Amino acid sequence: ELLDIGLIGLSVMGRSLALNMADHGYLVAGYNRSPEVTQKVMEEHPHHNLIPFFSLPELVSALRRPRKIMLMIQAGAPVDAVIDQLIPLLEEGDFIMDGGNSYFGDTNRRAALLKEKGLRYLGVGISGGEEGARFGPSIMPGGSREAYESVHQILETIAAKAKNEPCCAYIGPEGAGHYVKMVHNGIEYADMQLIAESCLLLKYAGGYTNRELADIYRTWNEGELHSYLIGITSDIFLEADDMADGDIIDHILDSAGQKGTGRWASIESLKQGVDISMITAACNARVMSNHLERRQKASSLIHAPAVTAVEDKQAFAEMVREALYTGKIIAYAQGFSLMQDASHRFGWNLDLGSIASIFRAGCIIQAEFLNDITKAFLKDPELESLIFDDFFLSRINRYQENLRKTTGLAVSSGLPVPAFFNAVSYLDSFRAKAAGANLIQAQRDFFGAHTFERTDRKGIFHHEWRAGHEV
Ligand code: 6PG
Repeated sequence: ELLDIGLIGLSVMGRSLALNMADHGYLVAGYNRSPEVTQKVMEEHPHHNLIPFFSLPELVSALRRPRKIMLMIQAGAPVDAVIDQLIPLLEEGDFIMDGGNSYFGDTNRRAALLKEKGLRYLGVGISGGEEGARFGPSIMPGGSREAYESVHQILETIAAKAKNEPCCAYIGPEGAGHYVKMVHNGIEYADMQLIAESCLLLKYAGGYTNRELADIYRTWNEGELHSYLIGITSDIFLEADDMADGDIIDHILDSAGQKGTGRWASIESLKQGVDISMITAACNARVMSNHLERRQKASSLIHAPAVTAVEDKQAFAEMVREALYTGKIIAYAQGFSLMQDASHRFGWNLDLGSIASIFRAGCIIQAEFLNDITKAFLKDPELESLIFDDFFLSRINRYQENLRKTTGLAVSSGLPVPAFFNAVSYLDSFRAKAAGANLIQAQRDFFGAHTFERTDRKGIFHHEWRAGHEV
């Protein structure tokens, strides 16, 4: 019997996805570059629908036509290498799907190359970590719509379900799926950073213990902040260490890594000219955290202000909760603005409401308020910013005072809160009557005759500036 799909790359994500497909009755051909990995998967996770292969030609000839092959391998050169190996083995109309965290520019290029060869290519963003891949991730497929229509069944079947709807929907042409996954990860960085900052405040200004923090996040998770990341945060604070006494959180090095998708989002935003300052701040916060020795040295050289003591702990926690929720709205508003710009710029016609709806389950940023984001774009598909949506606007107006107070307290206490800080400053730039840019224009015209526009008449002007005025 011919098999339904080939899965290349059997490390954690690939293996989990293969087993997910196998659970749903698909006959999966599994392959890994190192045969030991394939062997190990077969020994540790045997499944009657998962059949091991040890050569690509054998795997390809075992597949039903048109052949469908999913790559779950490390982004970058390894993807090109496997595609090069597959091209001569495949026939017109066959499919390659890249389920890794590939850079969308690479996906654009590969899609064009494979089209020339008569093959069909999908760049598929997949979120949800191991658990998601195994039991239902959020899936963001990009490529030709026709190609998606031919494989949608398998992708939708293995995807997470939110209110019985699959968290998988056609995103757009070329690398649109990987682009959206990149922005998802950017939002993920900002979301995580906001939570980490809320925790710094609760712990160092509020004086809460780990157990109390676990309770706070658990309670928050029962309300409008309900989300996967808040939920796991509560769990994390309850976890005992297995190598030393005490809680594991207190033995984890205070230095965060990254594989780079959040950074890509940030770089892309600068190229496009869209402000996603919170996501950039979250990238930088990780980078700054890595300088452990420098932080140690600087902490003894730069005087730290005294941490503002909190009187009413409960009121303080509520203040931080509102700040977190407001920051979250602004982070998502930034991420969705970036996608909206890409949609226009690249002619992708992204359905932002549908994108929000496939983030509702399976993925790392799944959250209650994605329902509200979907509603906002259903009401107005061309909504310029989530901030303008009635629901979010009313929340911002109700909570912004506490975002400001929280940020202010952190600043006066010397606690680093780059995400909160950038939330406030984005909001103020967003609604600024006076932005100070008239002075920038005057300076540009002064030193470089870069010209300026005027408030009182149309046209482009240059002024003959005089240097050295007597004051
Ligand atoms: C997901 C995640 C995942 C990502 C990790 C680590 O949606 O399942 O985004 O794809 O690789 O979260 O990312 P960093 O190493 O960059 O933090």
